[in-house]
Amino acid sequence: MTVRAIESALVISGSPRCGRSQAAAKAKCAELAARGILAHTFFLSERQVIACRGCNHCTRSGACVLLDQNDDWAGLEDLLGASDALFLYAPVYFAGPPAQLKALFDRFQVFWARRYCLADPKEISKVTQKKPAELHILHGNDQHDQHGFDPLIGICRSALNIAGFKIEAVIDENMGKSIPPISAPDTPAQERS
Ligand SMILES: Cc1cc2nc3c(=O)[nH]c(=O)nc-3n(C[C@H](O)[C@H](O)[C@H](O)COP(=O)(O)O)c2cc1C
Repeated sequence: MTVRAIESALVISGSPRCGRSQAAAKAKCAELAARGILAHTFFLSERQVIACRGCNHCTRSGACVLLDQNDDWAGLEDLLGASDALFLYAPVYFAGPPAQLKALFDRFQVFWARRYCLADPKEISKVTQKKPAELHILHGNDQHDQHGFDPLIGICRSALNIAGFKIEAVIDENMGKSIPPISAPDTPAQERS
């Protein structure tokens, strides 16, 4: 990722525990700070995001009905908007994300509703002005699970896309190497309707 033009970044750890994802996320924060980039953090070991109920309230109002539950969603929405880039550290749970990270992603449905149901100009502008993101994947021993993590990559791409971010790099933290990028839809016509 080109970090020159970035003044602030959001670093998310998607693990429910204070483990390898969070340690790697903290190391990224230190690296960003050394570059003079303001790093905001959102570590799911310390936060609670209640899962979407699919009530469709957001498709009519543009707001989530769960806001009155006082979980950590509102603060995260502010950070997503304020940050120039995003670094996501995600563990593999049965080829996909942990339930806590999926719950966070499902709350992005409010962005989808504002864009496609309410034609909110701010959300529509995110289609052409995507901010850069990196996905860092942490997994267990390959000998114990042969199913990989393609579903995790697809889920992260889909969710971050609707939040206005484009994954520019996927890094396998176990192997210490980048995974070749998968082409992602860039135009509204190619996106989920
Ligand atoms: C419920 C659960 C499911 C997991 N499923 C997989 C898997 O399918 N493939 C894999 O390689 N590792 C799997 N793991 C191992 C984790 O991906 C691995 O321990 C990872 O480092 C956890 O990240 P953390 O330390 O940030 O919590 C699983 C772990 C748990 C707790």
